[in-house]
Amino acid sequence: MKIAVTGGAGFVGSHIVDAYIEEGHDVVVIDNLSTGSKANINPKARFEKIDITNPKIRDLFEAEKFDVLSHHAAQANVRQSVIDPSFDANVNIIGGINLYESAHKTGVSKIIFASTGGAIYGEQKYFPADERHPKRPCSPYGVSKLANEKYLVYYKSLFGIEHVIFRYTNVYGPRQNPEGESGVVAIFVKKMLKGKNPVIFGDGTQTRDYVYIEDVVNANVMALDEKAKGIYNCSTGREISVNTIFRILKYRLGADVKELHEEAQSGEQLRSVCSHRKLFKALGWKADVDIEQGLIKTIDWFRSQK
Ligand SMILES: NC(=O)c1ccc[n+]([C@@H]2O[C@H](COP(=O)([O-])OP(=O)(O)OC[C@H]3O[C@@H](n4cnc5c(N)ncnc54)[C@H](O)[C@@H]3O)[C@@H](O)[C@H]2O)c1
Repeated sequence: MKIAVTGGAGFVGSHIVDAYIEEGHDVVVIDNLSTGSKANINPKARFEKIDITNPKIRDLFEAEKFDVLSHHAAQANVRQSVIDPSFDANVNIIGGINLYESAHKTGVSKIIFASTGGAIYGEQKYFPADERHPKRPCSPYGVSKLANEKYLVYYKSLFGIEHVIFRYTNVYGPRQNPEGESGVVAIFVKKMLKGKNPVIFGDGTQTRDYVYIEDVVNANVMALDEKAKGIYNCSTGREISVNTIFRILKYRLGADVKELHEEAQSGEQLRSVCSHRKLFKALGWKADVDIEQGLIKTIDWFRSQK
């Protein structure tokens, strides 16, 4: 298949590109390198450095005639979306529409979209959240992801473009940016390897559902199957506190660090965990890498980067 992967120079997208190439697909990476890196791009992929909001993207779609669009590029910083909602909407909503229009006009048959679990459901009413959980995004980022989901439903109902929407929870693993705002695993590992104390915001009992990158990649490979369609949480259904992540990493790294807490960040969700039952029922997907294994693999990778 001929596949366009937006955000293919970033953390999640670059791993998906690697897997698609491994499976023998022809991949074009679309990325403006704003947070991604050239070093992440598989040398067997073609790279187009272009912003997803650029109308010229249409020419690329015309020339390439992609079968599938995997849309992983985004303004993915929740705090930034609160500071500058217009920028967030421009990249995530206008950029999305620019891609979907290009896809629709050039015969793309399926769009795979990187949505979010935590930021769409907001403070949860029940645990774990399934896909029918009320959507109460409490950031412009969550709103923009939800808007994309709705646009994709529109493109399917009017033009028959199939979609697979993955609501990822907290993805972690090799290549995650340790300078970002939300990759707590990458941030903690990098700090601990340098012998520095990471900061835990709040009392650290806030929970997240951490899903390892290899499992996320497997879901994206399964999504290419003709029978794969719909909206799915891509999650483990298991809740882990930030304190637990800190303690496992400290133990595994043998790091001489203290558990330092700072004031909780305003608006931070207390508990976030999503059910993967729908994805399991539809495609037999489940997370195979447990948190201990995933953290060890992540530590090994960060060590190898020194
Ligand atoms: N990492 C997670 O835990 C997580 C959770 C939920 C959803 N997501 C979503 O998954 C996707 C990938 O996230 P990630 O963690 O790999 O982030 P990332 O920042 O590593 O990757 C995003 C990529 O998009 C590119 N990009 C950003 N703006 C662009 C633009 N205007 N035009 C072209 N390229 C642009 C960046 O250069 C980068 O390579 C995003 O859509 C994000 O919202 C991630």
